[in-house]
Amino acid sequence: MKKPKVFIIFVVLVFIFVCFSSCKKAPEQDAFQDIIVFGFSQLGDESEWRSSSTADIIRAAEDAGFQLMFDNAQQKQANQIKALRSFILNRVDVIAFCPIVEEGWDNVLTEAKEADIPVILVDRYITTDEDGLYCAFIGSDFQWQGEQAGEWLIGKCRGKHGPFRVAEIIGTEHSSPTIGRYEGFRDVIGEDSRFEIVNSVNGDFMRSKGRECMETILSETPDIDVLYAHNDDMAIGAIEIMEEHGINPGKDIIIISVDAQKSGIEALKEGKINCLVECSPYVGDQLMDLVRKIVAGEDVPMTTYTIEKVYTENSDFNTLPVRP
Ligand code: AHR
Repeated sequence: MKKPKVFIIFVVLVFIFVCFSSCKKAPEQDAFQDIIVFGFSQLGDESEWRSSSTADIIRAAEDAGFQLMFDNAQQKQANQIKALRSFILNRVDVIAFCPIVEEGWDNVLTEAKEADIPVILVDRYITTDEDGLYCAFIGSDFQWQGEQAGEWLIGKCRGKHGPFRVAEIIGTEHSSPTIGRYEGFRDVIGEDSRFEIVNSVNGDFMRSKGRECMETILSETPDIDVLYAHNDDMAIGAIEIMEEHGINPGKDIIIISVDAQKSGIEALKEGKINCLVECSPYVGDQLMDLVRKIVAGEDVPMTTYTIEKVYTENSDFNTLPVRP
């Protein structure tokens, strides 16, 4: 008597299994599962460079057909850590982020490692004693940028006696571009006793703070010969203040800046900036390539540096990069 009942239950179970497994294999479902989910945390919106970086990465993720989870941390490390945790909770395939400062990432990156989610550093480095917290870095060699600024200055002052009094506006403290640009510059000009860095103030990579810094520099050390600004935004802010004080930027004071974004290039053409060390934010396509390879289990280089140039008052202005 029991046999037919068991048979009916068996048939119903087989039917349900076939229905569900055929749903899983529907082509739309498979296509959906193939989409790479990519979490990207941008550190903020402080500069022209940063806006270009954000736009380029969003565009490249769309072109690559990835599902992007994006967060802008508004210049706060705590917000970036929160964003990384939400990417981990959402089980994205790959995380990439631009670390605002070098220190303080070990805990959250260990959580990503334990969740088996690969992490790519974009633009800035981190400092850690732990192994395997990230699998690739893509961005600039900031030490090289600082050295290029110093080399150009030495070339510009060749054959002159000096002394040359240099003021500096640095970027965000404890961030890798600030550390590299600060140290690289000193490594080079430190070899030449004609140069003295008489003032160094923190402008946080922002134009408004560049203005404040220049006011400080002019009140504390008015007789400077050179201004070295760690990015274009701060250089432009400083130029505005110089002009308000009747100083001729690029002539009365030699100006060196880093980035070569639109406003920097315009100032170079106008003779208000004498030297621009390029820092390229356009790594979006290369980044998406790294993501694809990591998801496919392929080996990727641990470090990919962007290729950058130095543009000066003597460059052929027809060959300067066109920035959006
Ligand atoms: O990390 C790159 C630096 O950050 C750029 O030079 C600067 O403009 C930005 O804010």
